[in-house]
Amino acid sequence: MPDPTTLTLEEKARLVFGADFWTTVGIADKGIPSAMLTDGPHGLRKQMAGSDHLGINASVPATAFPTAATTGSSWNPALLERMGAALAAECRVQQVDVLLGPGINMKRSPLGGRNFEYFSEDPLLAGELGAAWINGLQALGVGASVKHFAANSQETDRMRISAEVDERTLREIYLPAFERVVKKSQPATVMCSYNRINGVRASENHWLLTEVLRDEWGFEGYVVSDWGATWDPVEALKAGLDLTMPSTGEAGPATLVAAVKDGSLDEAILDRAVRRILDVHARLRATRTEVTFAASAHHEIAREIAADSAVLLKNDGGLLPLAQDGGTIAVLGPFATAPRYQGAGSSHVNPTRLDEPLAAIAEATGRDVVHAPAYRFDGGKDDALLGVAVDAAAQADVVVLMLGLPDAVESEGWDREHMDLPQVQLDTLSAVAAANPRVVVVLSHGAVVSLEHVVGKAPAILDMWLAGQAGGSALAQILFGLVEPGGRLAETVPWRLEHTPAYVNWPGGDKVVRHGERVYIGYRWYDTTDRDVAFPFGHGLSYTTFAHELLGVDVPDPTIAAATVRVRVTNTGERAGSDVVQVYVGDPVAGVDRPVRELRAFQKVALAPGEATVVELALDDRAFAYWGTQGWTVEPGEYVVEVGRSSRDIVATQSIVLDVPPVVVPLDVDSNFGDWLAHPIGARVLEEFGKAAAAGDSAGMLADEEMAGMMLQMPMVKVADFVAPGRGEQTVRGMLEALERLA
Ligand code: BGC
Repeated sequence: MPDPTTLTLEEKARLVFGADFWTTVGIADKGIPSAMLTDGPHGLRKQMAGSDHLGINASVPATAFPTAATTGSSWNPALLERMGAALAAECRVQQVDVLLGPGINMKRSPLGGRNFEYFSEDPLLAGELGAAWINGLQALGVGASVKHFAANSQETDRMRISAEVDERTLREIYLPAFERVVKKSQPATVMCSYNRINGVRASENHWLLTEVLRDEWGFEGYVVSDWGATWDPVEALKAGLDLTMPSTGEAGPATLVAAVKDGSLDEAILDRAVRRILDVHARLRATRTEVTFAASAHHEIAREIAADSAVLLKNDGGLLPLAQDGGTIAVLGPFATAPRYQGAGSSHVNPTRLDEPLAAIAEATGRDVVHAPAYRFDGGKDDALLGVAVDAAAQADVVVLMLGLPDAVESEGWDREHMDLPQVQLDTLSAVAAANPRVVVVLSHGAVVSLEHVVGKAPAILDMWLAGQAGGSALAQILFGLVEPGGRLAETVPWRLEHTPAYVNWPGGDKVVRHGERVYIGYRWYDTTDRDVAFPFGHGLSYTTFAHELLGVDVPDPTIAAATVRVRVTNTGERAGSDVVQVYVGDPVAGVDRPVRELRAFQKVALAPGEATVVELALDDRAFAYWGTQGWTVEPGEYVVEVGRSSRDIVATQSIVLDVPPVVVPLDVDSNFGDWLAHPIGARVLEEFGKAAAAGDSAGMLADEEMAGMMLQMPMVKVADFVAPGRGEQTVRGMLEALERLA
């Protein structure tokens, strides 16, 4: 790698901006090759000619893997690692250096336009899956660009909106997935988001890009702007942004050159960014070996992921899997021949092939298969279309009705206004179910949809999400039990939009969106407020049955916040299958309000019929911590460890007690009487103060327990004032001096 000091100021200024839409600047005579960055994240979008970040112009054929909303439901990091490796192979063959993904933002509302690109409403799950994906990708010398950093949960006004989020909520909800991937997989790049965070643009946010990302978490790569997220290149560079994409023409470099010359930008800051960019690209190139791949093999991986991520929400009477032989199957809905398998916008992929659900179903069975489109994608009423479908349903043994969100209904760039399926589809379900109640509803969609008018009408519901180019054949295999639906929900399915945590704070206005629900997003909200949901986080049925037995929660040393949870899982059914052990932790008595439970560990296990295995899941200090005024805080006392098959299906619970040091809140002149009482040395000072004051008239109240209880929330200055009128502050300052002497 060339030493930045051998480069001219002008050369350095050019190197921190894109050369064009997708490549960085190369300077041949200085030995600096250009690097290519492209979307991402569920397939390669290397554009052939016209460049854009909206998915408009064509790109080279590439495997369209299931999107993150789908793969999130796999709960299977090992599979995500294979997906990352497959993507890397495609990048290598196409000479792509950095793939723009994964997207690991939190799903704050079902309305988020890019929910299909994100894994989960839970940071642990998103972080684990993201880290695995990155490890798979980067092992082959292709860099990841984890995005969109940070608190970029909506599309509405995405380039100007300020996400107003308190620090605890950022630390516990919106940042931990990024922290996890940085610590576990050291992504080559982090992409800063468009939005502001508490008023400061992500691209100019020194706290975010430098203090948290680098100083605290140890990030070693470079920070790239989302496409067009840089406004002031000087401020951005100072804050810790390294590369601005795409090209800004001559303007950006000229601004930096002028800033260095007039002294408003230290050249060392520019050198630092140049070094980071060149260093990352050089490191990636150094790890590369020859790579080839077969498109058919990647198609198979895409199919495996689709099946492992499909969530069987409901299966009354064991309607699924369908028998290989029997009467006619009516496959209804236009998705049967025009599947919705990916989302729109910058992640749009030109697939190498596309499995049609109808053809795949017909191929997988010897049974007669009939098809009718049943309804129109555009939502228009068409009685003739419906009539044919109802007739087909009436004559069939079983109906597979495909419902979901058509392309036009969700996309990057805007948020949805409701979470309903198109009315025409719900009407179709009613009519079809009346003609034949044996209905399997198959769903295709990127963001959660309300199933309020579906659940009661269909005995079986299979959620395929956006299953990628091989989703059609994965569906056929699941329907006939050739593979099992391996997915568990990575996000709650609420009954109604009004029940969702961000409902009254979404999508904000006047360029501000307040995160009033704080840490209570997803199941943290539904479970803590005990709200009925259609399907809980972590839910998903299998074709077999499992028994989970909590063997114990071992705390080797109660003075250290760490535990191991041991669970025996047995496949008690007659088919092979997989299940996810989910470990949640709750802190029933805490110094701050906390969600009733939070996912702290998980593991997917695949078992043959009758087989059993013992899984051990480690809980570290963060599993018990909240973000308090002094950073990550673990309080001594009782914690409840729960083993569940969803956040609402807790199969075993064990309480543990941690004997960690008590939380000591530093005392100052503003502290409450209660703070003084709780402080180990402060309590002693308080006692002395009480004795000294005992002679005074008002001091008796301190001895009175009931009175003392009422005073817990009262500033010590005011308490002291009552004892010695007019001398409250003076007294407390004296107490603080005594405290310092004893410390
Ligand atoms: C999106 C990014 C994407 C970039 C390049 C932006 O509009 O937010 O996710 O990687 O464009 O296409």
